[in-house]
Amino acid sequence: MLKFLEATAIAAVAAAALCGGAVAQDAGAGKRTFAKCAACHAVGPGARHRVGPELNDLIGRTAGSIEGYRYSPAMTKAGQGGLVWTAETLQSYLADPKAVVPGTKMTFAGLKKADELANIVAYLGTFATTAAAPPSAAEATPPLAAPAAAATPGAATPGAGHVLRLGRQATPEEIAAWDIDIRPDGLGLPKGKGTVAQGGEIYEAKCAACHGGFGESVGRWPVLAGGQDTLQNDRPEKTIGSYWPFLSTVYDYVRRAMPFGDARSLSDDDVYALTAYLLYLNDIVTDENFVLSDENFTAVKMPNAANFIDDDRAQEAHYHTGAAPCMTACRPGTATIKTHAAVLDVTPEEGGDDRQPAAGIQ
Ligand code: HEC
Ligand code: HEC
Repeated sequence: MLKFLEATAIAAVAAAALCGGAVAQDAGAGKRTFAKCAACHAVGPGARHRVGPELNDLIGRTAGSIEGYRYSPAMTKAGQGGLVWTAETLQSYLADPKAVVPGTKMTFAGLKKADELANIVAYLGTFATTAAAPPSAAEATPPLAAPAAAATPGAATPGAGHVLRLGRQATPEEIAAWDIDIRPDGLGLPKGKGTVAQGGEIYEAKCAACHGGFGESVGRWPVLAGGQDTLQNDRPEKTIGSYWPFLSTVYDYVRRAMPFGDARSLSDDDVYALTAYLLYLNDIVTDENFVLSDENFTAVKMPNAANFIDDDRAQEAHYHTGAAPCMTACRPGTATIKTHAAVLDVTPEEGGDDRQPAAGIQ
């Protein structure tokens, strides 16, 4: 905030000194002055970044905030510090760029004439595609509403993403690189295919060392197959076949995280083949020539799927009616302890209920 005040203060002083009062603005004359900028900047419909960033929607935009342009650290920092392009800040910047943003990579000596400054700002102001909002209004806009606009190439996002003065908006490429999740309904599946037999070969080479032959694990690693009919046991064996409700999780998990230590090294077809092989190890498919692809993927049903239910907590009485949940003496009578979480090693095996709590755990 302090920096913002400094920046506006400098701007006010500089603008007053240069303009010496009211100067008539002439956008037409500003267009001619823009010839001095045009070697490095484009403005108007379809303007692209050149040596400098495109200048559409400039008024009201945070300095150093346009997607896809590599600003100097100095300009980025100035924006994060609160510098917003207004008629005043622009005039002082264009009069002496290095004085207002020390370290800027805009190598331009500056416009020295007050009328040139006023005119160029008037000219640039004509390229507003959105109503120019004063900075305070821009800051009032919820920052989380911004990413959608950022995805539209060329859409100006004044101050968007910078309200918290942290980081910058992710580029569409960065988002795409992370956005690899696959939904149970198949959304997100890449095109591709692979057979059980192919998957078996990849499995032997890249997975068996840890997960064991046939997915039975080598002691320390998760078991990938078997465990059917153990879900009622004290120690259920939760595997892909016995427990997982959706095949999409298998594809997503393997593609994202395996082989452990070499994640993202498998091709999409490799992952289809491995997923087919894991189905085979779990007896969900029985034919070695079975081909799993993006086309038949959602047709595969997992044996335990029906035992998962939608989260219906919102329908429970106290959520539904908005009543406060009971927090004290909710159960009539005396409560007795019936089971211990010994399996999870949470409750110490020896010692009764009257054991003294360890010091410090009161
Ligand atoms: C020699 C090339 C060059 C010339 C000429 C030039 N600029 Fe720049 N301009 C740049 C560069 C490079 C940047 C990016 C500065 C940085 O990142 O530090 C920039 C940045 C800007 C910015 C900040 C934009 C933003 O998104 O924060 C504005 C505004 C600007 N220039 C306006 C002008 C105007 C108006 C003129 C003409 C009067 C002009 N420039 C002349 C290269 C130039
Ligand atoms: C270097 C050892 C190693 C290799 C090689 C390896 N994994 Fe894993 N895998 C693990 C570990 C460890 C976990 C558990 C990770 C965790 O829970 O955070 C795991 C978890 C999994 C899971 C989830 C199991 C579950 O029930 O939670 C699947 C599926 C899986 N691996 C598949 C594969 C496939 C397919 C390959 C071969 C492409 C592979 N893994 C290669 C070590 C390995």
